[in-house]
Amino acid sequence: MTKSIVIVGGGPAGYVSAIRASQLGAKVTLIEKGPTLGGTCLNVGCVPSKALLMFSHYKHLLDHEFAKVGIDAQLKNFDFSRMQKEKSRIVETLTQGIAYLLKKNKIRHIQGEARFIAQKKLEVNEEVVEADYIILATGSQPISLPFFPIDEKRVLSSTGALALKEVPKHLLIIGAGVIGLEMGSVYRALGSKVTFIEFFSRIVPSFDTDVSQTMIEIMKERGIVFHLQTKVVKGSTSQDGVELICEGPDGQFTLDGDYVLQSIGRKPTTQGLSPEIGGIRLDSKGYIETGLDLQTNVSGVYAIGDVAVGPMLAHKASHEGIALVENLLQKSTHYNLFEVPNVIYTHPEVAHVGMTEEDLKKHNLPFKMGKFPLKANARGLVEGDLKGFVKVLVCQSTKRLMGATVVSMHASEMLPMFQLAISKKMTIDEIKHLMIAHPTLSEALVEAVLNAEGESLHF
Ligand code: FAD
Ligand code: NAI
Repeated sequence: MTKSIVIVGGGPAGYVSAIRASQLGAKVTLIEKGPTLGGTCLNVGCVPSKALLMFSHYKHLLDHEFAKVGIDAQLKNFDFSRMQKEKSRIVETLTQGIAYLLKKNKIRHIQGEARFIAQKKLEVNEEVVEADYIILATGSQPISLPFFPIDEKRVLSSTGALALKEVPKHLLIIGAGVIGLEMGSVYRALGSKVTFIEFFSRIVPSFDTDVSQTMIEIMKERGIVFHLQTKVVKGSTSQDGVELICEGPDGQFTLDGDYVLQSIGRKPTTQGLSPEIGGIRLDSKGYIETGLDLQTNVSGVYAIGDVAVGPMLAHKASHEGIALVENLLQKSTHYNLFEVPNVIYTHPEVAHVGMTEEDLKKHNLPFKMGKFPLKANARGLVEGDLKGFVKVLVCQSTKRLMGATVVSMHASEMLPMFQLAISKKMTIDEIKHLMIAHPTLSEALVEAVLNAEGESLHF
């Protein structure tokens, strides 16, 4: 019998599971409150941020790199509004593409906000909606400092920072995590002075310590300023600027800028959905609680993506959705949280999969480490990736790859080799004879594996 599925949220979790469920023969309804599909990722997240990272890098190359090889180009004109327009054109193309995909897959799309009116019963635009299965994919939103709320005028979240009409003279960034580093890179490349205030003792603390050290060096060389182990205790705005009072290891100090970006993490979105009326339990941080099967405490109601526990990443959201509907519709599937890659799209990029050195030490798991610097790789030298590296962590007893980090131009495109090795539980003996084309950055992947064996060829 045909199963019916209602999905709330049209981001990467919701729209991808809708397409997959429809392919598997389910009758699917997708409810999205926003005017366009694609959720945070396509509208105000992954896509626009990567567009600005790419475009701003052109300016960085022109201003700082071309002259090194004798190309003394002069910037004739820089029109930020055209950069923003091109970013919006790409976003529009992709969000419209999803509307087309929903139609093609015969998915009913309702534009409106869904809310529970009873257990397993939703209402949207005064229509009551019920189904065999309900999937909640309502995503996440920025966290704001409680004493200094985001207004998207001077006090920005990533959404406001992506939509600025002018390049800030001095951008203050609270939180040196992934959003901070990506947006800081964009505006530094476009000419802003950029200053970070980070609570922790190192930047991007969710990544390997080597990543933090390398990235802070690279960012400092570009003129970005960091205040670590520092918190903002007060913030105020004026017509044309912001002032922060900060407390660091050397006491209190004041920072002035024209904008401040708050990038201190994101929280699950459930307001408007009335989960309490649906009997849905949230955890202490506001995530919808699920079991390993992604089912909430209410039978037949599931949660996926940013609103469910786990890394807040688009591919995690989509793959969770695919695995869920494949399970529900009796199709074999594969999903393993351990295999979720994590990328920072700065220049160079940082890409990681599996465990970090800190994770392995914390769990007392004996390991061997292999590392290869990109300055010893021919293509790395050509690309100017002199601080980048590849690092692999190998289980001492099984010789299986446990984790890998790549800091390099195109690191996100190099990582899948290690993802496959981890997913297929490959030993490093199975990787080390892989013949990689020369000269490529990927040669450094195999060299790092060889290094773990004490068999480095080029280092
Ligand atoms: P969302 O994309 O947030 O979608 C949820 C949708 O549900 C929204 O469209 C919302 O309007 C809708 N909704 C909410 N409540 C209701 C309701 N009651 N009724 C109807 N609709 C509702 N991840 C990456 O993997 N790579 C990146 O490069 C990357 N870059 C990012 C850059 C930025 C600046 C940000 C902010 C995030 C980035 N992310 C990135 C994270 C990524 O965007 C999220 O992990 C991803 O969008 C989560 O997908 P989701 O479908 O769970 O939620
Ligand atoms: P984050 O968790 O990556 O970083 C937050 C940073 O803020 C941390 O370094 C933390 O120590 C610091 N911090 C927290 N509270 C603070 C305070 N009061 N004062 C100063 N510093 C403070 O969160 P971020 O950057 O907001 O991004 C949210 C999520 O969005 C990411 O975790 C990621 O899941 C997703 N994302 C993914 C991207 C990608 O895949 N490339 C790009 C952008 C976002």
